[in-house]
This record gives sequence, C-alpha cells and structure tokens, in this order.
Amino acid sequence: MRRLLVTGGAGFIGSNFVHHALEHTDVHVTVLDRLTYAASPEALHALPGDRFDLVVGDIADEQLVGDLVGRLIGPGDAVVHFAAESHNDNSLHDPSPFIQTNIVGTFALLEAVRRHDVRLHHVSTDEVYGDLELDDPQRFTEHTPYRPSSPYSASKAAADHLVRAWVRSFGVRATLSNCSNNYGPWQHVEKFIPRQITNVLAGGRVKLYGSGENVRDWIHAEDHSSAVWTILEKGQVGATYLIGADGERSNLDVVRLILELMGHDPGDFDHVVDRAGHDLRYAIDPTRLRTELGWTPSHGSFEEGLARTIQWYAAHRDWWEPKKAGTEAAYAAKGQ
Ligand code: NAD
Ligand code: DAU
Repeated sequence: MRRLLVTGGAGFIGSNFVHHALEHTDVHVTVLDRLTYAASPEALHALPGDRFDLVVGDIADEQLVGDLVGRLIGPGDAVVHFAAESHNDNSLHDPSPFIQTNIVGTFALLEAVRRHDVRLHHVSTDEVYGDLELDDPQRFTEHTPYRPSSPYSASKAAADHLVRAWVRSFGVRATLSNCSNNYGPWQHVEKFIPRQITNVLAGGRVKLYGSGENVRDWIHAEDHSSAVWTILEKGQVGATYLIGADGERSNLDVVRLILELMGHDPGDFDHVVDRAGHDLRYAIDPTRLRTELGWTPSHGSFEEGLARTIQWYAAHRDWWEPKKAGTEAAYAAKGQ
C-alpha cells in the first residue's frame, strides 16, 4: 500500500488533507504532529485504523523523523509537510517557536528525505511575497520576488529557500506550494473568521483590525487539499505552484457578511488596534496550477462556504469553547 507521512496532520489544513487522502485514494497515512495548542486531534477521530496512525512528536527531532521517513520505501511514498507555527499575531509576540519549527524543523525533514531519497511536498504561504497595493493590477505569481513582512512569513520564506536549495544542491525530489488564506471547519479561534463567528456565538463583539481595508484572498481548506493532492500526483519536481481561488475580499466586507449571515446588523462591530506591520493585500494568480496541472476549486461561492462554516462552529461549541477564553484574554491584553 502506498504510504504518506503528513506532518502537522492534526492541524486545521493538515487534518483536512488527511481526510481528503483517505476518502479519495487508497493510501496509508501516518501523521507526525507535536499536538501544540493549535492541534485538533478530534478532527482525526474515527479514521480507519488499518490505513491511519498518529505519531506524537516534533519535526525537529532528527532521530524520530529519520525513522519515520526511512519507512517510506515504495515508489509513490512521500512526505507532505504542513507542520508549522502558523499565526502572524503570535509571531509578533514571540518569534522563537516560529524559527524553531518552521526553519529548524523543515531542515530536519529535508535532511531525512535527502538521506532516504523520499519525495517531499512542502506547504507554504502567499505571505512570503509580502503585500500588494489595493489597486495593483498584478497578482502574485511563481516569479514574484520574496519580501516577507512578519516573523511568521519570514520563517516560511526561509523554509522555502531551504527546500529549493536542497532540490538544486542535493537533487531532493520536492515540490512547493504557496496558498492564500484558508477558511473552513476546525480552524483555531485565534484566526480572523473563526474568531468573529465565535465572538457572535458567545455573545461578544466582532473585532476588526484598523480600518479593515486589508484584502485577503479566501479559499476553502478542501480546495487547498485537492490542490496539494494534484501537485503531489502531477507536479514537476523542483517546481512551485501558487494555490488560490480568486477569492479577494476586504476584511471589512468579510466582517459585514458574517454579521449578516448570523442575523445581526452588519455595522455592529468594533475597530481595534491594528496589527504591527499589517500586510495590505494578498492576491494569487493560480494560472500555472490550473493550466499545467488542470486543477480547479470545487467551492464556487464564498458566501455559501462561509454560511456552512458558521453552521459548523454553531454545532461544535464543545470543541472551540475551551479555547475561547484564553485566546480572547491574550487579544484583550493587546487592545485587540
Ligand atoms: P495550524 O496552526 O492549524 O496547524 C499546525 C499543526 O502543526 C498543528 O497540528 C501543530 O500541532 C503542528 N505542529 C506545530 N509545530 C510542530 C512541530 N514542531 N512538530 C510537529 N508538529 C507541529 O496550521 P494550518 O493553518 O493548518 O497551516 C498548515 C500549513 O499550511 C502551515 O505550513 C501554514 O504555513 C500553511 N498555510 C496556511 C494557510 C492558512 O490560511 N491557514 C494558508 C497558506 C499556507
Ligand atoms: O495568506 C496565508 C496566511 O493566511 C497563512 O500563511 C497564515 O498561516 C494564516 O494565519 C493567514 O494569515 P493572516 O494573517 O492573513 O490570517 P488571520 O486570520 O490572522 O487574519 C486575516 C486578516 O484579518 C488579517 O488582515 C488580520 C485581520 N484580523 C485578524 C483577526 C484575528 C482582524 O481584522 N481581526 C482579528 O480579530
């Protein structure tokens, strides 16, 4: 049976990818995840025991990673690398775990796939390209120069450079993808969309950073997963693919839409302290992925996807409520 090692497979997008792989293919999946505050092992419950296992451990643990990668001996076996510290605001408070996991952890993984000659797909972010002006007609492409703004995006950029160097210098068989902002079930309540939905569900106020003119390019996590699978299957070794679904929206529009969909006055939110160094706009040109690999997103409407996401959070209070008070206390301490 073909085997995948999925790092960070207990996180928001990694767990979505694990479900995608198990439901659409006959692979065996081993998840390697340190189960940090951001993990949701609940998202992996009820998976088939003969095709799935979870190893709790750190991607920077060279011995553990070497052992797990060394078991990938079949021709189609691969590592799919999602594990990361993923939240910009946390990286502004304490960059240290971002350097350790995103850079040192990726280095450990690269050394293991080099030693055992195993295929790797490295999952990254559009934030490595910095930001765009609101009226810039260009979107990010595979050729946009790197210009990261935050400790998080700089650590992801560093990891991308390591992967590219290992491809060129050591012949490591890796592909890379840089995706835009994801939404969907199981996203931690620290992130923008779940934070606002759960604020409303908990009877609190919706919080918009600064003026809210900042634009993000939204894609459903299921479309990210299908794109990563497509790249794993058909991508050219050494190539980078940008993943996006033409979903640009200002934060102000998203906040108003959440309030409307939840039956509230769309003007019923607070402007709070802005994020330091806040990127203005991200926008992905996914032409290469669509034309060369034939990928298309299946979620056509952001409104529909957001409405379903709201329903999901309303039905999963037992999962997010224990995380909510601590997350909000940390934001409140910063005036956010
Ligand atoms: P997440 O924070 O929800 O999950 C990260 C997972 O990695 C968690 O399960 C955590 O326990 C695990 N992890 C963290 N440090 C680890 C370590 N040292 N060893 C093993 N496991 C560790 O993140 P996410 O939003 O699902 O993002 C997954 C990947 O996708 C990241 O690489 C991120 O940069 C990238 N990405 C995210 C988005 C987005 O919108 N969320 C967009 C583009 C790219
Ligand atoms: O672009 C891809 C990136 O998207 C990923 O690499 C990151 O892992 C992921 O966290 C996300 O980064 P952002 O910083 O764009 O996402 P976040 O959900 O933190 O914020 C989205 C936007 O909403 C951003 O402009 C900041 C704003 N915001 C955020 C929060 C938490 C608010 O206005 N209010 C809030 O309460």
